[in-house]
Amino acid sequence: MRNDLSQRGYLPRRDPAFHTPAAPAASGTSAVRPVVADTAGSSPVALDAFRVTKEPYYRSVADEVALYEAAYSARMPMMLKGPTGCGKTRFVEYMAWKLGKPLVTVACNEDMTASDLVGRFLLDANGTRWQDGPLTMAARFGGICYLDEVVEARQDTTVVIHSLTDARRILPLEKKGEIVEAHPDFQVVISYNPGYQSLMKDLKQSTKQRFGALDFNYPEHEVEAEIVAHESGVALDAAKKLVHIAEHARNLKGHGLDEGISTRMLIYAGSLITRNVAPLAACRVALVRPITDDPDMRDALDSAVTTYF
Ligand SMILES: Nc1ncnc2c1ncn2[C@@H]1O[C@H](COP(=O)(O)OP(=O)(O)OP(=O)(O)O)[C@@H](O)[C@H]1O
Ligand SMILES: [Mg+2]
Repeated sequence: MRNDLSQRGYLPRRDPAFHTPAAPAASGTSAVRPVVADTAGSSPVALDAFRVTKEPYYRSVADEVALYEAAYSARMPMMLKGPTGCGKTRFVEYMAWKLGKPLVTVACNEDMTASDLVGRFLLDANGTRWQDGPLTMAARFGGICYLDEVVEARQDTTVVIHSLTDARRILPLEKKGEIVEAHPDFQVVISYNPGYQSLMKDLKQSTKQRFGALDFNYPEHEVEAEIVAHESGVALDAAKKLVHIAEHARNLKGHGLDEGISTRMLIYAGSLITRNVAPLAACRVALVRPITDDPDMRDALDSAVTTYF
């Protein structure tokens, strides 16, 4: 399947769970026991595993590629805003490939702590060693650190990126007593779904104002159909019908639907159709059933499907 990450060749070749490579010679001091390796789990070689080796398919929709390139050349931290399934992650993968920089992705969640980003001391048979977190590794050796769904993280976690995303470009590792100066290639990118925030869950203004922002949305009809056809392998004609159905559902957002049908869902529907599932069943499974449990809304969407198929 074309959408398979490993086939596209840009999943990390190693588990991003920050395994330990061969430990360098002992150095530094530790709060508890001798530090065996001060950047264990983090090295230029480890970061290399996060390179995007194959060109990801990305269909640009406006001037976002040029804008991002300009922002990267100024090392401006960037925020990608847009609804679910509209191409934010694909875009950052493509840009990392285009710029030739490793891409370290962190899926944020509310249990994430600053240590999960920055690193921690680990105990093993040889004593205590420091293990860089993904943010530290990217900052130290020059990668793009992509914090996906950043509002899911607690605000006290998010603030650790502040010193890296202003003119200082440093990361104090308080527990280790080290200040990491960001590598010249380092950049922070965050994704953000506007409208999904609650009062309790939003970025602080002091975080937001450290970033430039690009708005993403579902592409216009012809472009979206081209993407759906490319990604799922479905015929362009059928892809156009799927996009019509999505546009219908998107108009119902706020009138019984919390969210419209995303490009990702259309690709799912297309993938089922290419596997000889009847279009009506494919749309029910991939487009209608996941987004609503309301019987009337399901009927309304099912009848939109029958209009086109
Ligand atoms: N402009 C585009 N070019 C190529 N593929 C695209 C584009 N937009 C969307 N896609 C396709 O849509 C799928 C979903 O996009 P993606 O995963 O990037 O969404 P997202 O905005 O990151 O969503 P989420 O907020 O849920 O993480 C991608 O896997 C890709 O196949
Ligand atoms: Mg994403």
